[in-house]
Amino acid sequence: MPVQKVIYDTDPGVDDAMALFFLHYHPDIDLIGITTGHGNASVEITTRNALYLEQRFGIAAPVARGAAGPVTGQDAHHASGVHGENGLGEVELSGDIDVQAVDLPAHRFIIETVRRYPGEVRLLAVGRMTNLALALREDPGIAGLVKDVVIMGGAFGYNGHLGNVTPCAEANIYGDPQAAEEMFAARWPISVIGLDVTHEVLMSRDYLQRLAAEAGDAGRFTWEISRFYENFYINKGLAGISVHDASAAIYLVAPELFETRTGPIKVVCDGLAFGQTIQRPAHVGFPPNEWDGRPAHRICTAVKGRELLALYRETLLRAG
Ligand code: BDR
Ligand code: CA
Repeated sequence: MPVQKVIYDTDPGVDDAMALFFLHYHPDIDLIGITTGHGNASVEITTRNALYLEQRFGIAAPVARGAAGPVTGQDAHHASGVHGENGLGEVELSGDIDVQAVDLPAHRFIIETVRRYPGEVRLLAVGRMTNLALALREDPGIAGLVKDVVIMGGAFGYNGHLGNVTPCAEANIYGDPQAAEEMFAARWPISVIGLDVTHEVLMSRDYLQRLAAEAGDAGRFTWEISRFYENFYINKGLAGISVHDASAAIYLVAPELFETRTGPIKVVCDGLAFGQTIQRPAHVGFPPNEWDGRPAHRICTAVKGRELLALYRETLLRAG
């Protein structure tokens, strides 16, 4: 596979950091920018975390700080119960950070970079979709200029998965449904890696212990930051941690590990089902409805979990 130019839109975040390691160490990925947003913690904290990770792991991509809250102007709420108050599992992040964010807001960084490399940029978005929606509002033309968009977010009922913050909403969509609705309305190809597949793959304690032993500083750091996160999942009765953001990163280079379904997608922006994602399957006929005229996107419905875990591990071993 030729080397892929990727902008990583993220809210680090324990699993965001784990996905970042995959992007950094995979030989077919050229990480050309990191844009941050509100989500697992405030945008101040997620930006600090992105810069910390860059410095500690020698990642050179420019970092652009993004939106502090949803496009509606409502207050952001953060997932500190899952990722810790500092977003990285309460692990102490010692030392000064010498790298700085660029002097451009995230959405403008996205616009400028997409326009610099027309047809080449893949946007990987694993936080709330606010930066993508703001970029589209300012410059709708970028939709025709990106190579594609890959997101971690949403849930469509496959394998019984419908939500993780409410019975029908996934966290990245719930945190800014309006932004997601605008993103899905745009005519750029989107692949959605939702809970349907990310809740089907678990990293066990053994798996993480092996990473700690074999994958150098990235493996050890993954082990440390995942203690708090693992506790959250074990308390939910799971046998390990769900592989959310790293699954989306892996999709970039190994889409053959996933089964998909296409069709236009809408997001519920108010009421009881706030944050729910609903796809109208392309192969089913319906009377006229609100999905008419919207572009078809791809959702993932099944995943080869064992192969995905092997690819993640193999890639991180390059850090060892
Ligand atoms: C998503 O929410 C965040 O907590 C994770 O980083 C992931 O992107 C899972 O619902
Ligand atoms: Ca995330």
